[in-house]
Amino acid sequence: MSAIVTSDPDNIQAISGPDWGVAQRLHGMKEMLGPGFIAVDGEEWVRARKMLRPAFNKNSIDGFGVLGKVTERVVEGIQEREGVVEIDEMLFDAFMKSSMQFILGLDAEKEGDGRPLTVSQFNELWQQAFVSMAVRILLDNKSWILPSAQYLKACAKLHSFVDFAIDESERRSAKASDAPDQKKTMVDVVRPQARSKEDARNQLMGAHTANQDTTATLTCNAIQLLADHPSTWKQLREETRVKGADLLAYDGLKESKLLHNILFETLRLRPVFPMFGRHALRDVTLPKGGGPKGDQPLHVPKGTSGLMNSWATHFDPAVFGPDVNAFKPDRWNSIKPKTKEFAPFGLGGRACLGREKALVESSYLLVRFAQNFERLEAPGSEWKPDTTRMSMKNGAGYKVVFHTE
Ligand code: HEM
Repeated sequence: MSAIVTSDPDNIQAISGPDWGVAQRLHGMKEMLGPGFIAVDGEEWVRARKMLRPAFNKNSIDGFGVLGKVTERVVEGIQEREGVVEIDEMLFDAFMKSSMQFILGLDAEKEGDGRPLTVSQFNELWQQAFVSMAVRILLDNKSWILPSAQYLKACAKLHSFVDFAIDESERRSAKASDAPDQKKTMVDVVRPQARSKEDARNQLMGAHTANQDTTATLTCNAIQLLADHPSTWKQLREETRVKGADLLAYDGLKESKLLHNILFETLRLRPVFPMFGRHALRDVTLPKGGGPKGDQPLHVPKGTSGLMNSWATHFDPAVFGPDVNAFKPDRWNSIKPKTKEFAPFGLGGRACLGREKALVESSYLLVRFAQNFERLEAPGSEWKPDTTRMSMKNGAGYKVVFHTE
């Protein structure tokens, strides 16, 4: 099977369309994630996406109960320390806890309620299994050469944890008449629509993959960039002071042009997913890539991989204005890139369902930090893109010094 790597916006739009699919991923993902929305095409994917969508209603993501509590602790933890703080571990932990609640309806800090693993055991196993799965995806049909006993055991344990969350959701729903207004988490939304427990588990495992460290990575990148750009931090502090508590509500966060500009500029320079792929479901023609100059249509046979390097499209001065390498959130007051030119959340039918949740939650964290810290510094804020994992992080780490005055 051959592969095409493209950063042409017209090609990116075409590859994000219905002639291209993702089911080739299933071979490497099947033991861990199963055939959930993340690894199926066609009717199966339409059905799965329909099941998940209501979990992303404003109602389900509005309210920062868990995230509010864990952010409080992160802020206190930072205030107790002096000097350099590695923020990634703290933020990944905070968003993981809020994800446990949003996706599985489980309180990450509870123990002894019959769950087969503690949350930290689940996370540790998840990281190990995820690496094994990534190697299987790379090896594709040669993955049989890998030893699998330990991997399969880890997958079974992870599944037993998610199955526990499904059973808990079943129990909650049996008691629903006691609390009809209870907020529905993703497991509560997906379970009654799923064909079976296994089907529900497959969708939830996929959602945990999509949710896992994406918002944390975006937030770490934004904080590091803000630490290097004190005038934007000052602007954010001022907005936080003027708007007060209004800015901490869902609508206030969503309406803030400054927060929007900061996060979009962060995603432009440091997209969480710089490259994502599909394979051609049939013989297709891409708008560009053919002819001696590459500006003619290109015939692509069925089965070809199409890798979209959307990161490269983020540096076109004709679209994003001058100084494309610089962090300038204000540029978003005057530019209007088309979706095919700026797609940090993907585009077409498979575009991210968690987009609003991620942007609002990341904004929430930035505001809470701006309320508490006068000034930031980023010693060693060098940017070394690490693309060896699913989402792109700073290989040089996220070291920040927080000043309260
Ligand atoms: C900064 C944070 C995030 C970024 C940059 C991001 C990015 C993306 C991208 C690029 C895609 C398209 C993938 C493709 O076309 O193959 C996608 C799909 C998706 N994402 Fe996100 N995502 C983020 C956060 C989240 C969160 C928090 C969730 C919550 C569970 C989520 C759930 C999903 C789902 C359900 C899909 C749909 C996949 C499909 O229909 O096949 N994402 N995301």
